[in-house]
Amino acid sequence: MKHFLRFQDFSREEFEHLFERTRILKYRFKNYIPYQPLVDRMLAMVFEKSSTRTRVSFEAGIHQLGGSSIVLNTAESQLGRGEPIEDVARIITRMVDIVMIRTFDQAIIERFAANSRVPVINGLTNQYHPCQILADIYTYIEHRGGIAGKTIAWIGDANNMCATWAEAARIFAFKLNVASPQGYKFVPGEKEAPHVALFDDPMQAAAGADLVTTDVWTSMGYEAENAARLKAFAGYIVTEAMMKAAGKDALFMHCLPAHRGEEVTHEVLEGPQSVVWDEAENRLHVQKALMEYLLLGKINS
Ligand code: CP
Ligand code: NVA
Repeated sequence: MKHFLRFQDFSREEFEHLFERTRILKYRFKNYIPYQPLVDRMLAMVFEKSSTRTRVSFEAGIHQLGGSSIVLNTAESQLGRGEPIEDVARIITRMVDIVMIRTFDQAIIERFAANSRVPVINGLTNQYHPCQILADIYTYIEHRGGIAGKTIAWIGDANNMCATWAEAARIFAFKLNVASPQGYKFVPGEKEAPHVALFDDPMQAAAGADLVTTDVWTSMGYEAENAARLKAFAGYIVTEAMMKAAGKDALFMHCLPAHRGEEVTHEVLEGPQSVVWDEAENRLHVQKALMEYLLLGKINS
């Protein structure tokens, strides 16, 4: 049994398989070709933080594959009254076939997985967002071909998205330029460090990059730091000039939701280099491939 708790849980070869399955499942979806290998399978989604894309893409995805889903959130479940995550894991994984969790510390999802009878998917933690990077890399490949050897510029907060990009940089052999202010610098792990370059100046990080990407200055769970972050990140905004410095073939991505005028201008988000809507849609397709793989193994039909 496999889980997808961090991007590094899968090998490059497993990702290549997922991307090929994504292409096939997306084609079937777009052409109204029914494909329901997960009839009678149940996905439980546990949300300790808000979501729009993750909720809709997983719920629509499992349904399209023939299965069904149930959503638990903190306020409406016993989690909100302090039931230990280990107990929740032992109980719900006797009743469902696969679980997606969005929570705070990565340790929570690891404790859940350690007590799970079924595959567990990380739907975002404070530290990582592997499903989003799966969609982002698939989107890059769709628009530009392979990502190996390319340069990705990360502008702004060295958050869960940035840390997941760094794991992907090692696996796919691309370069990650990270521009963030003092006090919020990215600290890559030992294995990731050779693939990461740190910058103070976002323009320098973006110059010549194949993909420029960013995220909110204040992630979920860090709201108390919002005022300090607004000051610290001023200037770490992806602008049209920055996209020009990257080059005309460079793409722009954002996991969304975006704060126009903070980490990205309205013009870039809505501009010709932006692929954010494809990126969001691809959450559906990559996660269908992911659920198929975790539940059925490598399918080639
Ligand atoms: N990008 C992303 O995970 O969006 P949601 O928070 O809406 O799920
Ligand atoms: N870094 C953001 C991503 C939201 C999808 C957060 O964790 O809030």
